[in-house]
Amino acid sequence: MRKFPEGFLWGGATAANQFEGGWDKGGKGWSVSDCARAKFDLDVQDYSKHNEITTKDIEEALAHPEDLVNYPKRHGSDFYNHYKEDIKLLAEMGFKVFRLSIAWSRIFPNADDETPNEEGLKFYDSVFDECLKYGIEPLVTMSHYEPPLNLVLNYDGWYSREAIIFFEKYVRVICERYKNKVKYWLTFNEVDSIIRHPYTTGGLIEDRFPGKNFEEVCYQAMHHQFVASALATKICHEIIPNSQVGCMITKLSYYPMTCKPEDILKAQQQMRNIYAYSDTQVFGEYPSYLLSYYKGHNIHIHKEEGDDSLMKDYPVDFVSFSYYMSSCVAQDESGIEKTAGNTVMGLKNPYLKTSDWGWQIDPIGLRISLVELYDRYRKPLFIVENGLGAKDEMVNGKIHDEYRIDYYRQHFKCMLDAIEIDGVELMGYTSWACIDLISESTKQMSKRYGFIYVDADDYGNGTFDRYKKDSFYWYQKVISNNSLDFE
Ligand code: BG6
Repeated sequence: MRKFPEGFLWGGATAANQFEGGWDKGGKGWSVSDCARAKFDLDVQDYSKHNEITTKDIEEALAHPEDLVNYPKRHGSDFYNHYKEDIKLLAEMGFKVFRLSIAWSRIFPNADDETPNEEGLKFYDSVFDECLKYGIEPLVTMSHYEPPLNLVLNYDGWYSREAIIFFEKYVRVICERYKNKVKYWLTFNEVDSIIRHPYTTGGLIEDRFPGKNFEEVCYQAMHHQFVASALATKICHEIIPNSQVGCMITKLSYYPMTCKPEDILKAQQQMRNIYAYSDTQVFGEYPSYLLSYYKGHNIHIHKEEGDDSLMKDYPVDFVSFSYYMSSCVAQDESGIEKTAGNTVMGLKNPYLKTSDWGWQIDPIGLRISLVELYDRYRKPLFIVENGLGAKDEMVNGKIHDEYRIDYYRQHFKCMLDAIEIDGVELMGYTSWACIDLISESTKQMSKRYGFIYVDADDYGNGTFDRYKKDSFYWYQKVISNNSLDFE
C-alpha cells in the first residue's frame, strides 16, 4: 500500500472574506471585501471586468449597508453562526488541519484603532478552541484579501508606509492572544496577486493615484507587504517559539506552446514572474531579474533603512501555494485559442480538459510544480489551496460529485509521486475550499468547491444548511487510510 508520510497534515482551506459572513456583527469594521460587488451580468471568465473597481463603487457600497445580494461576501457561508457545526463536520472527515484567515477588520475595525476589538478576539478564541477540541491544528492566514476599508480611504491602502505599522500592531495582538492555540501561520495570501487585483489584495484603487504610474504603485505596496511579512515572521517567532510561518504564492504553471526556442524563453520568463515573489520571501532579497524589470519599466521602489536587513534576517520557514491549473504561452499568440485561469487568461492547451469556468485541469502540473519549488528552495512545501470549482446539483439532500473525487484522486496520485519518486518534502494539503463559499473572482456561490454543500444561491437565497457531498465520504477515507489504496 502506498502511503503518505506519517503525520501528513490533511485538511481544507477557507478565508474569512468569502466564508465568514457576520460582516457587521461583533464590532467588525468594513473591509474591502464588504464592498466587492457581484456583477451578475458579466461572463464568468472575464476576470478583469469582475475585478474593476472605482472610488464611486465604494461610495455606492457604503450607501447600501443593507444590500447582501449585490455584496455576497458580506454573508459568505455564514461561518460566523455555523462554526461549531462546520468544525464538527471537518472533524468527522478526520481533518488534521483547518486553514482559515482572521479578518483584520474584526480585530482592528479601522486598522488604525488604539485598541483591539475584544469581541472579535473572542470569536477566534472560540473558533480555535473548537478546532483544538477535535485535535485539528488551525493554519491561520493573517491577511487574505481584506484590508480594512479605512486603510483604503484614509491611507491609500498598502501604498502607505503606515500600513506596515498598523499591520505590525495587529500581528502582535493576534500572536499574543493565540500563542497557545496556533502554531502554523501564513502572512499574505497570494502576495503576488496585488498585481492582478490591486484592490482586494492591497486596497489600491487606480483613480486615487492620478498622474502616478499605477504599476509602480502596486509594486511599492507589495514592497510594504514584503517588509510587513518579514516583520510578522520575526514577531511570530519571538512570541511563539515553536511556530512555523509560511509565504503563500499563486503557483500558476506555464508551458511553452511549441518547442520553438522563442516559446521556451517566453515560458521561462513567465515562470520567473511566478517565482519572483517566493524568491523574495525565501531568500530574503529581491531577485536580480525583478530588479531588472523595475529598471526597464521605470519603476522606483522607495525603501527605508532597515527594510533590506529585515527581509534578509526573517525569511519564511516553509513555502505554501495555491495550485489550480496550467496554461500555455507563445511568443506569437495570434490565432491561438485562449482560456481563463486564476484571474488571468492563458493559451489553451489541447491536451487538457477545462472546468466550467475555463480553468485547465492538470494534475501532472502539480507534480511539476512541487518538484520545481522544492528544487529551488529546499524548504518544506505546503499545498494550501487546490480544488475544483464546479456546478453541483442537490437532489433529495444528496450531491453526487464524482467529478470532484476524480479531480482529487488524480492530484493526490501526483502528490504521492512527487513525494515518493521525486523526493519532495510536503508537509500537508488543504483543499480549496472544504465547505462551499463565495468565489473570489466571480462572487458566485454556484462555483462550488466544497466537500460540504451550503444551501444558498448566488443571491443569498436559501437556508445555509450544510449537506455532505459524496466527496465528503471519499476524502474521509483518504485521510483515515493516509493513502489512496482503499478503493
Ligand atoms: C485563490 C484565492 O486564488 O483562488 C482564493 O486565494 C480563491 O481566495 C481561489 O477563492 C479560487 O478562486 P475563485 O475565483 O474560483 O474563488
